[in-house]
Amino acid sequence: MKVLVTGAAGFIGSTLVLRLLARGDTVIGIDNHNDYYDPAIKEARLERFAKHPNYTHLRIDLAHRKAIYDCFAFHKPQRVVNLAAQAGVRYSIENPLAYIDSNIVGFAHILEGCRYNGVEHLVYASSSSVYGANTAMPFSVHQNVDHPLSLYAASKKSNELMAHTYSHLYSLPTTGLRFFTVYGPWGRPDMALFKFTKAILAGEPIQVFNYGKHRRDFTYIDDIVEGVIRILDRPAPPNLDWNSALPDPGTSKAPWRVYNIGNNSPVELMDYIGALESALGKKAEMELLPLQAGDVPDTYADVEDLVDQFHYKPATSVDDGIARFVAWYREYFKV
Ligand SMILES: NC(=O)c1ccc[n+]([C@@H]2O[C@H](COP(=O)([O-])OP(=O)(O)OC[C@H]3O[C@@H](n4cnc5c(N)ncnc54)[C@H](O)[C@@H]3O)[C@@H](O)[C@H]2O)c1
Repeated sequence: MKVLVTGAAGFIGSTLVLRLLARGDTVIGIDNHNDYYDPAIKEARLERFAKHPNYTHLRIDLAHRKAIYDCFAFHKPQRVVNLAAQAGVRYSIENPLAYIDSNIVGFAHILEGCRYNGVEHLVYASSSSVYGANTAMPFSVHQNVDHPLSLYAASKKSNELMAHTYSHLYSLPTTGLRFFTVYGPWGRPDMALFKFTKAILAGEPIQVFNYGKHRRDFTYIDDIVEGVIRILDRPAPPNLDWNSALPDPGTSKAPWRVYNIGNNSPVELMDYIGALESALGKKAEMELLPLQAGDVPDTYADVEDLVDQFHYKPATSVDDGIARFVAWYREYFKV
């Protein structure tokens, strides 16, 4: 299969590309290598597969319309996984327009590329942050998500809406994946686990928001990639039982779906830090702070649809996942 993966030098994208190449797919990767976080780690992730005979890398921006159209017209991918985005909730408070360029304008270019080039299935990253002000737990795709708390969340919800129109109008099968706090080797330097590890090893205090009380459905990277691959292989079907008088927010009569991919087992931030302290063999010095603007207090994924339809559920425990992250971190930074 020929698969276009955007965000290929990113945390999730690079891990996915490795898996696709390992099973024999041909992969075209797109990434603009921006400096939202240290681009050196993007180069290092890419080095693992840049020279693979079935891999082509394009350093282009999703917001660059011609470059994206040319890529689709030239490479004619059968399936597309859109992971490139401006990520991060907190950054969206200071830099809202970066989210419009990459996540809205860029995503529209991906939809158009799919529309005109016979793409069989578009899978794209959404986020648990779309649940916003909802507090009914676990979060289900069958609940309405109309109350985002950050522009990042609003851009991800917009992607789901934009995709629906293409599924409806052009019969393009699309699947949105709401990832829940992903962590693991080759992770993002802007995320808590990375920052905490760096600070603890340096003997510096870590900033613990919401006094460590919030819970996250931390999901290990390999579990995320396994879910993406299973879903990519099965283009979204229409729900023939969809009832427009009682519209289900998680399915449609168009070939459009959204799924949660989360661990289904929320962990309190303090316990996550405890697991990190054990893996590092060192105690953290903590600066306890209130919940940050734009952040949601808890996340907890209902993954029943994933289990029913794909016989799959993320299962890596935080203790195992953090131990693997720490082993990678020590080797990568030689600490
Ligand atoms: N990591 C998580 O916990 C998490 C949780 C929920 C959703 N997501 C979503 O999953 C996707 C992948 O996340 P990640 O953690 O791998 O992030 P990442 O930042 O490591 O990867 C995204 C990659 O996309 C590239 N990129 C950004 N804007 C681009 C543009 N306009 N054109 C081309 N390339 C661009 C970046 O250079 C980066 O390498 C994102 O859409 C993110 O919003 C991630």
